[in-house]
Amino acid sequence: MSKTYLSPRGTADILPDEAAAWLEIERKARRLFHLYRYCEIRTPVFEETALFSRSIGETSDIVQKQMLHLAPPVAGEGAPRLPVFSLRPEGTASVVRAYIQHRLDQREPLSKLYYIGPMFRGERPQKGRLRQFHQIGVEALGPASTSPALDAEVIALSAAVLDAAGVADVRLRVNTLGSLEDKEALSGFLRRVLETRRSGLCPDCRDRFERNVFRILDCKRSTCRGIVAGLPLIEAPLTAASRAYFSRVLDGLEALGVRYVRDPTLVRGLDYYTHTVFELTSRGLGSQDAVGAGGRYDGLAAQLGGPSVAAVGFALGIERMLLAARDAAPISSGPQVFLIPASEGAERIGMSLLAQLRRAGLAADMAYRSASLKALMRQAHKSGALRVGILGEEECREECLTVKNMETGEQRRVSWARAADEISAEFARKGMGRS
Ligand code: HAM
Repeated sequence: MSKTYLSPRGTADILPDEAAAWLEIERKARRLFHLYRYCEIRTPVFEETALFSRSIGETSDIVQKQMLHLAPPVAGEGAPRLPVFSLRPEGTASVVRAYIQHRLDQREPLSKLYYIGPMFRGERPQKGRLRQFHQIGVEALGPASTSPALDAEVIALSAAVLDAAGVADVRLRVNTLGSLEDKEALSGFLRRVLETRRSGLCPDCRDRFERNVFRILDCKRSTCRGIVAGLPLIEAPLTAASRAYFSRVLDGLEALGVRYVRDPTLVRGLDYYTHTVFELTSRGLGSQDAVGAGGRYDGLAAQLGGPSVAAVGFALGIERMLLAARDAAPISSGPQVFLIPASEGAERIGMSLLAQLRRAGLAADMAYRSASLKALMRQAHKSGALRVGILGEEECREECLTVKNMETGEQRRVSWARAADEISAEFARKGMGRS
């Protein structure tokens, strides 16, 4: 027997009965992005590795442990050294790269961009944690992106997308890391307050103490959590300007009616953040409960060699959104009309009627096989069709179609010439149009 293949570990096939829910979430997100004036940007799924390490951070878990690299083609002797590419672990770095490359700052003072697509992280797979997963994200970049009102709006938009997707029990945590200078001071402060407690930390966090002390704040181990809970984080050094900025963000959230919890331990695992950071969790997702996250990253464009512009954004994980919205009503994906050519020679007229129905904007399908009428009616029923059109011998003689309403069981006959128009008019009258 020949070998069969399975999808790689940590990836998932999205089968047709699930695809409808994906499309629905994407449709709702796109609608909201349109209302908030965001335009779509599509960037490659791989980039130079250095783009990610310079933006997300050399010492971050993503860069240290989770990057999926592309093996370069074997270069012959004397061939130029090829840059090393990696699959994108997130969207922000690529969007900033594209913003700089195409000088979007010269086109408009504020670029409001959104993306929907696959991201890749070589993590240990578990429920809600994949190696290929999908994000819906937005990034608002530009010289006119400096107001705390935009932080509040971006956070409100992320919550609105989750709400529209039916994600239940969402909790929003917010914090501020302050300006780039504040972050420096904050890391010194964290080292000072952790110094005496260092020996109680897990081996990873002892390492983080040197490399990236912020990461200790979101260690999941209970011993480290206990230590973090006892830290005087309220006393963390922040300039008056950064405090004022954050209080205006919180004011904005209140003005927009967004409920939040202030969490001084929230630091995020990506290095580019300054000022506002936030995370959205949904109860019931288990240990991987972060359904989305984001924040401000004012220094990133300049750090990547671009203009010094401010920026703020978020990304939501689609797989986790679907897990958290699992109880949402299933979306019907059946055809509006299912044709059954039930006699010799009826298939040809069936094909022509099918084309007419589709031209009239109706989702239509046909039984592409010969079987008993009973078996084909069973197939039609299973497909979820709203109307079934039967082309038996009599119908073919009289050039008409028997249309069965699958909800009421009623049957009526319409001529071939009128069928598409009449059925589509009936759907329009009843507000059942879908296409
Ligand atoms: P992140 O927190 O790394 O942020 O990812 C955002 C969301 O992506 C997570 O909350 C989660 O829902 C989903 N996610 C992440 N990793 C996985 C995984 N292995 N499997 C399934 N879902 C996952 C970012 O990516 C930032 N770029 C967000 C951002 C945009 N900040 C500013 N702009």
